[in-house]
Amino acid sequence: MKDILDYFKANDERYLTELAQFIAIPSISADPAHRKDITKTASFVEKQLKAAGLKNVKQHPTKGNPVVYGEWLGAKGAPTVLLYGHYDVQPVEPVSLWKTPPFEMTIKGGKMFARGTADDKGQVFILFKVIEAYLKNRKQLPVNVKVIVEGEEEVGSTNLAEFVKKNRALLSCDSILIADTNMLGKDKPSITYGLRGLTYLEVSVTSLNGDQHSGTYGGAVANPVQVLAEMLVQCKDPKTSKVKIPGFYDDVVPLGRKERGELAKIPHNDEHYAKRLGATMTFGEKGYSTIERTGARPTFEINGIWGGHTGEGVKTVLPASAHAKVSMRLVANQDPGKIAKLFIDYFKSIAPPTVKADVKLFDNNGYAALTPIESPGMKAAAVAIKKVYKKDPFYTREGGSIPVVADFQQLLGVDAILLGFGLPDDNLHAPNEKMDLSQFRAGLATVSYFLEEYAKVK
Ligand code: BES
Ligand code: MN
Ligand code: MN
Repeated sequence: MKDILDYFKANDERYLTELAQFIAIPSISADPAHRKDITKTASFVEKQLKAAGLKNVKQHPTKGNPVVYGEWLGAKGAPTVLLYGHYDVQPVEPVSLWKTPPFEMTIKGGKMFARGTADDKGQVFILFKVIEAYLKNRKQLPVNVKVIVEGEEEVGSTNLAEFVKKNRALLSCDSILIADTNMLGKDKPSITYGLRGLTYLEVSVTSLNGDQHSGTYGGAVANPVQVLAEMLVQCKDPKTSKVKIPGFYDDVVPLGRKERGELAKIPHNDEHYAKRLGATMTFGEKGYSTIERTGARPTFEINGIWGGHTGEGVKTVLPASAHAKVSMRLVANQDPGKIAKLFIDYFKSIAPPTVKADVKLFDNNGYAALTPIESPGMKAAAVAIKKVYKKDPFYTREGGSIPVVADFQQLLGVDAILLGFGLPDDNLHAPNEKMDLSQFRAGLATVSYFLEEYAKVK
């Protein structure tokens, strides 16, 4: 391994220069205005994979953004690992809250600041550079690798399942490695074994055909903002945080005693946790710890709410309508389509006759996923972590979602190993996203050891 680790050190500066170029292309998948940047970024990835020495490197068009694929299949008799990541990023608003320009990678205090540093450009770049290091130094990798980098993860990987379905043979593998998650801390390395699913909707409540004077008409008809608020309150119990949509919990796989015991071992302090977030205290579903609530229990969240006068000063208006974006994080075995339907039926059923209620379902859907801790890939990841961090990893369940993981399980029959190098304070999706340089460098070594170990255990 010395040759590989030395290569990382010798090329550190070039890596950061290239990563900064990757970061500089604003590949925001949610915004159609950035279509060209998506194309440019896909080409950047294609060049990276080619330069790393992969074969059969190609951009595969989809109905949405291109998928970039490459492979190296020269390890006769060795297992095949599919490496996955995404080259798209989240929007950067509000720009005024960024301390440095969102698409100029700025290194300060051992941290790289910019959109995409941790989610996911900085992490997927680790995979590119591990491949490069092996193929440049040894002309071979310990295992066969296939690499797939997509551009729609941040909008729900809408077209990726289709791509996987059509390319089962191309993508067939023994294990999947994904670097797109967090660790508990630099000194608390961890591997993620669970992801939550998601369903996302927009609701509207309308009571008038146009805004009216709130003096002339206030009191005569229902206020849609008030009604919407009342309806949303009926979706989740204010005291227990239990979701009140009938049938919502029906398919939830309950947390077993053993797993609860394991999760309880994860170092966690509710007060510190709340303080870091600027919250007065933690809060959520009654009967579950914070770690359980975020990883292993489903939630109902209001992501945004608007209607009526929200600008400067006073405007006495009776709004015609009110709107909210809501989403539900799901756990195994909840079906996002079924949950969306339960919500739609319930929301319409609780609408009073004074208003018209509409619901729109977005296609940013995904199933939850779980990877057995005992699987060979997980074992290889644990050994790799121990080698680099000198500590055994914790096993965590991530509250966020990576929709394709369940698709991979379903369509390829393979579990994903979620070996990510982000940290809880990386500000994903928020202003001042960052990735710690030490985590980036540790990631290079850990992924290398993972490939070495996986060649042995499988
Ligand atoms: N990398 C994240 C998932 C994640 C979030 C991992 C937090 C670790 C910590 C991924 O890019 C993401 O943001 N997923 C979206 C999916 C959605 C848009 C369908 C999410 O979880 O909101
Ligand atoms: Mn991500
Ligand atoms: Mn993300």
